[in-house]
Formats: sequence, structure tokens, C-alpha cells
Amino acid sequence: MKYNIIRYNTIDSTNKEAKRQIPSRQEGTVIISEEQTHGKGRLGRSWTSPKGKGIWMSIILEPEIPMDHMMGITSIGAAGVSMALDDMDIPSKIKWPNDIVVDGKKVCGILTEVVQELNGSFYAIMGIGINVNQDIVDFPEELHSKASSLKIIKGCEIDRELLLMNVLRRLRKLYLKFKLEGDISQSLKICRDNSIVIGREIYLIRGKEIKKGKALDLNMKGELVVEFDTGIEEISSGEVSIRAIDGYI
Ligand code: BTN
Repeated sequence: MKYNIIRYNTIDSTNKEAKRQIPSRQEGTVIISEEQTHGKGRLGRSWTSPKGKGIWMSIILEPEIPMDHMMGITSIGAAGVSMALDDMDIPSKIKWPNDIVVDGKKVCGILTEVVQELNGSFYAIMGIGINVNQDIVDFPEELHSKASSLKIIKGCEIDRELLLMNVLRRLRKLYLKFKLEGDISQSLKICRDNSIVIGREIYLIRGKEIKKGKALDLNMKGELVVEFDTGIEEISSGEVSIRAIDGYI
């Protein structure tokens, strides 16, 4: 897979642009923008993406796997970003399914969207947003307790270009192992080893329903295995939010 990086100064959302470009682009196309005016988060939320302060990008992938394995793609994304941060001496944790957390605050989110073309082929858009060089004033007030940037945490500007290259390099390796050899174990191991969820009591929040359980493991699809009073369930992303009972929310 060869990356083809397409850069924008401003765009509504790199995920949206990636979708628009699918008919004419190949796997490995990376849409990246200095700013997003309508950045998308999970569960219908918006994603604040101020100009020149973060990495806002989407990668077009064609993994040729069944639809119900697509959430493994998010695990690959989370593992790749976490490794790339390691490369820059920034230890991070992964909050299933898609948050990267440094010093207890979210610094990165991943939004994987699946697109089916008229010819039947499936694409995955892996959208990655990394809060790199924002100052506190760049975050909406209500996010101050939950989200931060690498600059705020480290106390110095971070080289966005270097981080981008590290992320792309780490992702390519993990993704190709998955696509060519059907082997996602390396990504899952990184997600498990760095998880702030596994082994903990958690609340699962689905719409208005809140259920208490214990997160046991990730299965081979990247789903979270949770033990409830009612039995063990495998939870897929999209419909679920998780809050650790004591600590990071
Ligand atoms: C989340 O944690 O809710 C996921 C956030 C994903 C944000 C990224 S920024 C680049 C890409 N384009 C978007 O509109 N969203 C994703």
C-alpha cells in the first residue's frame, strides 16, 4: 500500500471528503487538512479541529474483509497512534474503542466509517484526529476536564509532521499484517496491553441505558468482552460509550 497524501488548508471534514473521493481514489489515499469546519466525532458529536493545531486526517482503506470485522480497523488505528506516540516518548493509554489518552485526558479520537460502493466493494474510512498543539483556550469549556493536547501535557510544541509520519508508518505495518495475512493479533495486543478499560469495572452506556459490568478482554474482532450480572456479552462499537467507574471518563 502506497500512501497518496492530499493536503487541504480547510475542509468541512476529512472523513466526508474521503467519502466524496472514493470513486476516484485508491486505498492508501490520505486526506489531511489544517482545519475542519465540521469535524465529526463518534455518536453524532462534533470534533473541534482548529487551524494548524492538530492532525486531522482520513485514510481510505479497502480491507476486503466481512462487514462485521470492520471494527478491527479502529483497533489498528488506536494501536498505530499509540505506537507513534511511543516513538516520540509520549506514553499513552487506549480507551476502547477509539480514544487515545495521555495523562488521563483524551488527545486523540478515531472515527471509522464503512462505505459500500455501487459495485459492491467495501471501503473503510479511518478518520484520526490528534490534538497536538492546541492551548487550553482552543478547547470548549465543557471539554477541559476530559480532553487535552500533547502541547499542554508536554509543555512544549510537538512536531506535527514528524508525528504524522510516525503514525502513517506504524499504521501501514499493522494494517498490512491484517489485510495480507489476516492477522490482527499484534494490534489487539497493543490495545490490550495499553487498555485503561480491560480488567476494570465499567458502565456501558447505550442511548439512555446504563449497565454496570466488568471489561474482560477484546475478542478477535476488536469487540469488548464484558461480564454483566446477566452473563458475558461481546460489545461492538458504534452504539456504546464506556465510562470507567473510578478515574478517566
Ligand atoms: C471521536 O472520538 O469521537 C472520533 C473523533 C474523530 C475525529 C477525526 S478528525 C479527522 C476525521 N474527520 C472527521 O470529521 N472526524 C475524524
